[in-house]
Amino acid sequence: MTTYVPRPDRYSAIPYARCGRSGLMLPRLALGLWHNFGGVDPLENQRAMLRRSFDLGITHFDLANNYGPPPGSAEINFGRLLREDFSAHRDELIISSKAGYRMWDGPYGEWGSRKNLLASLDQSLKRMGLDYVDIFYHHRPDPATPLEESMGALAHAVRSGKALYAGLSNYNAEQTRRAAAILKDLGVPLLIHQPKYSMFVREPEGALLPALTELGAGCIPFSPLAQGLLTDRYLAGIPADSRAGKGSIFLKAEGITSQLVDQLRALNAIASARGNTLAQLAVLWILRRPEVTTVLIGASRVAQIDDLYGAFATSALSADEIAKIELILK
Ligand SMILES: NC(=O)c1ccc[n+]([C@@H]2O[C@H](COP(=O)([O-])OP(=O)(O)OC[C@H]3O[C@@H](n4cnc5c(N)ncnc54)[C@H](OP(=O)(O)O)[C@@H]3O)[C@@H](O)[C@H]2O)c1
Repeated sequence: MTTYVPRPDRYSAIPYARCGRSGLMLPRLALGLWHNFGGVDPLENQRAMLRRSFDLGITHFDLANNYGPPPGSAEINFGRLLREDFSAHRDELIISSKAGYRMWDGPYGEWGSRKNLLASLDQSLKRMGLDYVDIFYHHRPDPATPLEESMGALAHAVRSGKALYAGLSNYNAEQTRRAAAILKDLGVPLLIHQPKYSMFVREPEGALLPALTELGAGCIPFSPLAQGLLTDRYLAGIPADSRAGKGSIFLKAEGITSQLVDQLRALNAIASARGNTLAQLAVLWILRRPEVTTVLIGASRVAQIDDLYGAFATSALSADEIAKIELILK
């Protein structure tokens, strides 16, 4: 039984943007459950973050089959919180999942076969207790499986009603163009692409972002804060409760060099001068690109979500500020 009553004014909080040339509007900030929502993480903190997000108008939650740890546990926890707190609000939510990275033993537990993608989607639906996900992604391109087979599986997921829309992640521009053409032939447009993009990862600017505009697909950059580097977390050491401090294999403490910290401090000075935190600056910097529909953040506590939400109360970056940031990133 839920005690949660969402804020009635939640839809006046955050702006929304159209996802490519689709009918779908997404909040300009979305919450991902890759970290801090696993079986090893306190459930009440997860509940608090989901509630606060929804109260701020964040209607999009991003998952994948393997999020945890252990793999699958983020979907199990999310399913439980959905049932306990959000069961009256399913139609207000955009829930995504993905398949493609290793999830179970044997040759069908990863990559891009029809067998892997459709079996994984069924597992995800079961874990979350859902009839359908809103967006189902191929998580990474599979060099060994014909693209027609992987895209055929996404199209089948949509036609069978187990997903409303199809997405791609970690595909380069050329792969995305080919995949989108196949999907179009199958009558299922590519809704959205999820690339890694931040001040520290610029590849999508070359060919991918322009391709997405041409294809009419939306864009939801992941790790926009470079997993927490582009925040105040590491400006004065490595906190024990941070991703790097907890010994993450994805963000290694030894990578946080004094050179990097100097760069972060210089970026932080630009942020402070305009009344932003560094994390807010990193989000505003991504939103400067018209191809971007929404910024897919992660969080370990409610205060971080509140902080990022604060970005929307400040002005867009000026050309002069963008140029100053560029100089620091050189
Ligand atoms: N498609 C893919 O292949 C793929 C890959 C990776 C991620 N993703 C998606 O992208 C989502 C986000 O990825 P990410 O977690 O790497 O994103 P991120 O936003 O770059 O980093 C999130 C981390 O930044 C820190 N943080 C967030 N807000 C902060 C604030 N206001 N002030 C200070 N620190 C703040 C927190 O670190 P601490 O934990 O240290 O507090 C948080 O865990 C994932 O959950 C997932 O949905 C997709």
